[in-house]
Amino acid sequence: MSIHPDIKTVLITKEQIQEKITELAAQISRDYKSGELVLVSVLKGGVMFLADLSRKITIDHSYDMVGAMSYGKSTTSSGNVIITKDIDIDVSNQDVLLIEDIYDSGRTLQAVKDLISLHSPRSLAICCLLYKQKAKKVVNMPIKYVGFYIPDIFVVGYGLDYAEKYRNLEYIGVLKESVYS
Ligand code: IMP
Ligand code: MG
Repeated sequence: MSIHPDIKTVLITKEQIQEKITELAAQISRDYKSGELVLVSVLKGGVMFLADLSRKITIDHSYDMVGAMSYGKSTTSSGNVIITKDIDIDVSNQDVLLIEDIYDSGRTLQAVKDLISLHSPRSLAICCLLYKQKAKKVVNMPIKYVGFYIPDIFVVGYGLDYAEKYRNLEYIGVLKESVYS
């Protein structure tokens, strides 16, 4: 595997990500009823995860996306979440599963969850690929499916960016300090 020159260490490999997604998809396929599941991903970071997860889920389902932004060109959350896009499909009488790249402070998930709640789905749960283990979360949210628990460090790849870069990496990695300075 060739590593991007800006990456210091690979935290989760491409193989580990794909293996975990296969596991999560099997579990989701067992837990939900065919035809009643809507995956809602959070732009832009969640789309890689959504695309891979959706293709591994064996029951009928649909998907949609919401737009939410919290990070500017920095490695810490700006604190306010801006919603840039709502869902288009009717989720009443459907079970919504939010698909997010990472649960960091919890602010984004809270804002997105509030937005989806306005559409009155039958149920609403969260699936995130990464769960950042912080001493204190700003918002505590129950997460139904977690891919990996990671330390409280800034990571990129597989949808996650730094200044809109590195989303295309197939693995999750840590940037070299020289990239920030
Ligand atoms: P929260 O609102 O603080 O939970 O942050 C969630 C959003 O911030 C995610 O959807 C990511 O876009 C971004 N984010 C949080 N941690 C990281 C990271 O380590 N790398 C890249 N983006 C991150
Ligand atoms: Mg994001």
